[in-house]
Amino acid sequence: MTRTHRHSVSVRLAIIGAGKVAAEHHVPGIAHDPRCELVAICDTNEQLVNRRQAQWQVSLATSRPERIISDPDIDGVIIATPNASHAPLALAAIAAGKHVMCEKPLGLSVAEAATMFKAARAAGIVHMTAFTYRFAPAMRYLRMLVQSGDLGEPRHFRSQRFLDWPETSWGWRQSKALAGAGDLYDMTIHRIDFGLDLLGPIDRICGALERFCLRGQTEDGAACESSDVDDWSCLLGRFVNGATGVWEGTTLAKGYHMGGVGHDWAEVNGSTGTAIYRLGKAHSLLLGKPGKGLEDVAVPENLLTPAGSPRDPQGQPAAVGFRQDLIWEFVSAIREGRDAAPSFADGWQAQVIADAAIQSDLSGSWVEIPRQKP
Ligand SMILES: NC(=O)c1ccc[n+]([C@@H]2O[C@H](COP(=O)([O-])OP(=O)(O)OC[C@H]3O[C@@H](n4cnc5c(N)ncnc54)[C@H](O)[C@@H]3O)[C@@H](O)[C@H]2O)c1
Repeated sequence: MTRTHRHSVSVRLAIIGAGKVAAEHHVPGIAHDPRCELVAICDTNEQLVNRRQAQWQVSLATSRPERIISDPDIDGVIIATPNASHAPLALAAIAAGKHVMCEKPLGLSVAEAATMFKAARAAGIVHMTAFTYRFAPAMRYLRMLVQSGDLGEPRHFRSQRFLDWPETSWGWRQSKALAGAGDLYDMTIHRIDFGLDLLGPIDRICGALERFCLRGQTEDGAACESSDVDDWSCLLGRFVNGATGVWEGTTLAKGYHMGGVGHDWAEVNGSTGTAIYRLGKAHSLLLGKPGKGLEDVAVPENLLTPAGSPRDPQGQPAAVGFRQDLIWEFVSAIREGRDAAPSFADGWQAQVIADAAIQSDLSGSWVEIPRQKP
């Protein structure tokens, strides 16, 4: 791929959407990375963007995304807005030659995600999908064990994401028009990405979605528009390599609060061993060998952060710190003139599977996944 930018100086980043994920993941990530700086922020909520400007000490704050996208002094844009605006904002930033990191799900549908990937590839910019949990040290270690053959031939992938959320409004997240889907696009899509990253492409999917709660009230008790998205999603799949996959996600698992982290479990059962990732224990893996019990094994030091990152892995709770490593990867890819991982191709492929689950739920049958090479 051709790259127009080569950086000996700081990579100048802007954030569009100055809400929760920007504050918790991306701004601290930029602060940890001496190779980049936050030069501009945008949010359509003027009061919020003004407050963030003071809080984050950034010189340019605007409520107009065009101001960021047309600015020649900005190298890369982080899109952290509700899902419905990902595609228009990313396509505009790509057309202006910016590198783009976009939050997940990449688009409101697989068609949008494919358009975004193709535009990014044609423009030769660095593109990245913010599949945060890939950066968890335990997941990095699990990937290494699968790739090195330590678990033998992979047979099963299994993931559970159980949250105990209040049954009040999720705001934009409970609107199909703004979010595309509920738990499936919010939580399960990260775990679909785990499966694809660890075991490769999937050739068939059976999916089911349910909505149990209407959430017609806000936390303060005010009436609001009811939810029209799922709060439970489940997939059964078969990988091209013959392995099976099972995913379940819910926000209605009472008692699974677990200090706010919830239950997040992903495992691979191979012919010679099992390895289990848990978000609540992000610096260790459960490992199992034939005929023995599961053992808690620490992630090797060199896998706690990305190579070269100055972030102190012990400086924050294990379930939190790695969420700031996405910026390190985005900036490294820009500086090194290489593809970022996970890229828009990964965001697109995860959405192919998520949308197949929606289709399967509607049709009541398995959906064959066409072979498509990005
Ligand atoms: N990768 C992860 O682990 C992770 C975690 C949380 C959220 N997310 C994703 O990040 C995105 C944002 O989620 P959030 O929880 O921060 O939401 P949020 O509601 O806290 O923040 C979104 C912000 O975007 C602003 N906004 C809306 N439309 C805009 C537009 N067109 N231009 C500029 N600003 C606009 C809103 O005013 C709001 O301040 C979503 O796509 C979500 O799925 C990802």
